[in-house]
Amino acid sequence: MRNLLDTKTLARAEAIRILDVAEDMRDTQSREVKKLPTLRGKTVVNLFFEDSTRTRISFEAAAKRLSADVINFSAKGSSVSKGESLQDTAQTLQAMGADAVVIRHGASGAPQTLASSGWITAGVVNAGDGTHEHPTQALLDAFTMRKRRFGDDSRGRGLDGLAVTIVGDVLHSRVARSNVWLLHTLGADVTLVAPPTLVPQDVSAWPVRIVYDLDEAIAGGPDALMMLRIQLERMNAAYFPTEREYSRRWGLDAARLAALPDGSIVMHPGPMNRGLEISADAADSPRSTVLEQVANGVSVRMAVLYLLLAGERDTNDTEEGAR
Ligand code: CP
Repeated sequence: MRNLLDTKTLARAEAIRILDVAEDMRDTQSREVKKLPTLRGKTVVNLFFEDSTRTRISFEAAAKRLSADVINFSAKGSSVSKGESLQDTAQTLQAMGADAVVIRHGASGAPQTLASSGWITAGVVNAGDGTHEHPTQALLDAFTMRKRRFGDDSRGRGLDGLAVTIVGDVLHSRVARSNVWLLHTLGADVTLVAPPTLVPQDVSAWPVRIVYDLDEAIAGGPDALMMLRIQLERMNAAYFPTEREYSRRWGLDAARLAALPDGSIVMHPGPMNRGLEISADAADSPRSTVLEQVANGVSVRMAVLYLLLAGERDTNDTEEGAR
């Protein structure tokens, strides 16, 4: 794997390979082999132009558990405030020896630009770009669903026939986009539930069913119900019902939680707006996989860094193999 930029173009076999390697990584962690020597001598740069808790810290933990060196860059407090460009910032970090750059950026397409520009030779991992994609979040979500469904018999499997309902601010959600593409590739049936103003205009081209009524979607009996964060920071007043109305019509509360079928799980990528899209009852219930998702994120990011920096290279990598 040369870069990981999106899930839309990720083939089923590649996705399953990442999930299977993540299983191996998880096994090493559960055997209390906390540190593997695999990426000794490699340097991973976390290049974050937007805030993050889970993604940045879990990439750092993943890199360190594989014995890589980690450089954390945050745009806040950096020379970006003096006008330094993405090109100059990335090239400066590459000059310090970056082998992989994990980038989060507010502009959709920034990781693709970095990967295709020729500015740097390091592999690029998209850690969330604008409202476009967040591929490692979708991979850790798929890993969590697969683990819940198949347990220790997960390796080699997709998510064929799994009913997944994604609820909320789809318009602004890179998590929703990455999940839709990956879940479709893995064979799941995806339903989106959102207020009409928070459905993207191009959704007719997505492989999903759209429902506007959350109770109707819950009555359909989803295997996984994924609640999205309302992105108030990206919200225009024209898009958003009042918080009270949103919570009443599209929030997951105790009554809706009780209406879910036995065995269905409640997911949220975090950070959560408790009391808005999800109640404390739901977030902390035994059905909730929120913290499981966080823990699985480290294994999945270990797998991605491993495949990027130590794994087999595909044919496109051959001429760059000497870098
Ligand atoms: N889910 C997610 O991307 O969380 P962070 O913004 O904390 O990284």
